[in-house]
Amino acid sequence: MTLLYEGKAKSVYETDDKNVLSIEYKDEVTAGNGEKHDFIPGKGHLNNIISAALFERLHAFGIPSHFIAKTGEASQLVKRVDIIPLEVVVRNTAAGNIVKRLGVTEGEVFETPLVEFYLKEDSLNDPIVTEDHIKLLGHGTDSNVAELKEKALAVNEVLTGIMNKMNLTLVDFKIEFGRDVEGNILLADEISPDTCRLWDKDTNENFDKDVYRNDTGSLIDTYNKFYNKLEGI
Ligand code: C5P
Repeated sequence: MTLLYEGKAKSVYETDDKNVLSIEYKDEVTAGNGEKHDFIPGKGHLNNIISAALFERLHAFGIPSHFIAKTGEASQLVKRVDIIPLEVVVRNTAAGNIVKRLGVTEGEVFETPLVEFYLKEDSLNDPIVTEDHIKLLGHGTDSNVAELKEKALAVNEVLTGIMNKMNLTLVDFKIEFGRDVEGNILLADEISPDTCRLWDKDTNENFDKDVYRNDTGSLIDTYNKFYNKLEGI
């Protein structure tokens, strides 16, 4: 298979079908735009099975994505899309970047979810962008941005419901979208504890990558516990 793209956490390969790609989840983990970097055996497998399970559940709730099928320990087939170079972040509760940026109190629950856009550009440190910036850079029209927002909020509703059943608060998450061959905007990339903040409703324990970012626990144990909870509901 021809390697099409290699990112920090995944490699993307072409397949015999020009409309289908194979994603290989890597055992690498980074934080702070690559400042912290480690190799954790088993991580790729966990991200693959968790992301597949979450995409399947989203499908069941009427939210389509690029996901087609899991094909191996750390690989899955996906529909080929052109990734829109924006990270779409939805926040239900204040944590992370927004606490540092706006001085809101960590743990503050927002009356309505916030949707933010960040430009996917490592060399610029993924800056936050406005809708006008998105248009200026040619990454979408007003109606595209409205569609991204609407889709992100729909994902939020379904994911919040899933996490509630697992006794977890969906604090925030990041998703990405791509355009398929027909130009439809489709949910893409991955959804996993790498891309979400999840707090245990009783103990506030983190079920996400913050255990790695903040050195507060074992990433593998945390992701395993998350997967078992997900399979248990
Ligand atoms: O760092 P920040 O508070 O902006 O992160 C918000 C959410 O987006 C978190 O759940 C984090 O895991 C996710 N995120 C991500 N990839 C990034 C930036 C943030 O998955 N590059």
